[in-house]
Amino acid sequence: MSASLATVAYIGAIILFILSLGGLSSPESSRRGNLYGMIGMTIAVLATVFGPRVTMAGIPWIIGAMVVGGSIGLYAARKVQMTQMPELVALMHSLVGLAACLVGFANYIDPMAALNLSSAEKAIHEIEVYVGILIGAVTFSGSLIAFGKLSGKIGGKPLLLPGRHFLNLIGLLVVIAFGYQFLHAETISAGMIALVVMTVIALLFGIHMVMAIGGADMPVVVSMLNSYSGWAAAATGFMLNNDLLIVTGALVGSSGAILSYIMCRAMNRNFISVIAGGFGGGAPAKKSGGDAQPEGEVVAINAAETAELLREAKNVIIVPGYGMAVAQAQHTVYEITKLLREKGVDVRFGIHPVAGRMPGHMNVLLAEARVPYDIVMEMDELNGDFPDTDVAIVIGANDIVNPAAQEDPTSPIAGMPVLEVWKAKTSIMMKRSMATGYAGVDNPLFYKENNRMLFGDAKKMLDEVLAALKS
Ligand code: TAP
Repeated sequence: MSASLATVAYIGAIILFILSLGGLSSPESSRRGNLYGMIGMTIAVLATVFGPRVTMAGIPWIIGAMVVGGSIGLYAARKVQMTQMPELVALMHSLVGLAACLVGFANYIDPMAALNLSSAEKAIHEIEVYVGILIGAVTFSGSLIAFGKLSGKIGGKPLLLPGRHFLNLIGLLVVIAFGYQFLHAETISAGMIALVVMTVIALLFGIHMVMAIGGADMPVVVSMLNSYSGWAAAATGFMLNNDLLIVTGALVGSSGAILSYIMCRAMNRNFISVIAGGFGGGAPAKKSGGDAQPEGEVVAINAAETAELLREAKNVIIVPGYGMAVAQAQHTVYEITKLLREKGVDVRFGIHPVAGRMPGHMNVLLAEARVPYDIVMEMDELNGDFPDTDVAIVIGANDIVNPAAQEDPTSPIAGMPVLEVWKAKTSIMMKRSMATGYAGVDNPLFYKENNRMLFGDAKKMLDEVLAALKS
């Protein structure tokens, strides 16, 4: 393929990636967005493999690597449960970081990479290598820790080392000092020492940064690492002189940064204090289903009573959370919604921006179950409507409906906007036990006078509610 044809293909791919991001901004167009992304990526891969910079001798190697990588990806994608998606995404981000590091090292030791460069160009190339490896290493280790935290393998409690900000500052100064040394290194091996020291510090920084972040702040960390992985890819693009990779990385980096901002706003936090760490110090999801002690009286109801309350209601708001994903209850939720709507009940869904374990988690599940998009509302769109709502039914959600965020200034989640389900005439909370949610914070909603607890697995209980509604 000629260089100009490859450039045209790259421009086509870039346009498709932009259209893809545009499509992903709403559930209605998200399938189309995904399709654009897939076509764009196919064009990008073909134009790169058959482009002017790959020799015929290299093609079997590339195809071999693609078969191995593609098979692993296919296997992981088919095997992963919907509830494990956030962990998989974190793991994928770590691979982008690792790739940036490896490309950086390979580029530095490749005698051809800096051949025929003027001294200014060589300095720019070396800065690209240094910064690329730096971002890649932070992304790699940070994403691995995020994977551990999201999967519950590492506790959600923030690790707050004494003088941690000071430690980070020292790390930054050492990285700058070694950067200077790297740029002035006379030999490859001298440069290599600076690179390796910086990489180790960057890896430690990534671990330290994510370890210091509390359970409740994980949504921001997930989107932040998403952004970092984009910048790591862009840095790789600079190292390889690949315009498509630069643009694609920048698209991912900036959209991840916007997502981090949205997540921060959803949690009423500012980005710097998230990075500084410490918010929401509880254990992660593992604790759920565990041994949290009840405080006060709770009123339990059964499925038949729940069906009765729903049947008598004029309007209902359903608030889904992580438990709905665990139980895979979305299809039964849809059946119940359909039945109630046929009976003339006004049913809407209230979606909290950080419900579940990844951005848009609930929207994806509800779309999969074919719940009409026009009754799926953002938190801000219906939070004022709870006082006029007969029944608010919470399905496997906990932190996102916790009144302590508003009522208890000492709560670790104080100030986080929540869905005000307790203002409805009756709220029903469907979960298996009295356990806390991801942030590990007790929920006073359980003990409110107008609240009822429907204990059990969400899918099982909803099946019973559906049967009772039909009878
Ligand atoms: P959580 O607060 O984690 O509450 C989920 C509840 O579901 C648990 O209390 C659990 O209680 C219940 N549950 C689990 N399995 C169930 C099942 N099979 N049937 C019925 N109930 C079940 O979830 P949420 O309200 O969606 O809030 C999300 C939390 O995750 C927030 O703290 C958020 O910061 C954090 N987080 C979000 C993200 C993103 S990007 N969305 C990423 C990382 C972390 P039982 O054990 O008693 O059943």
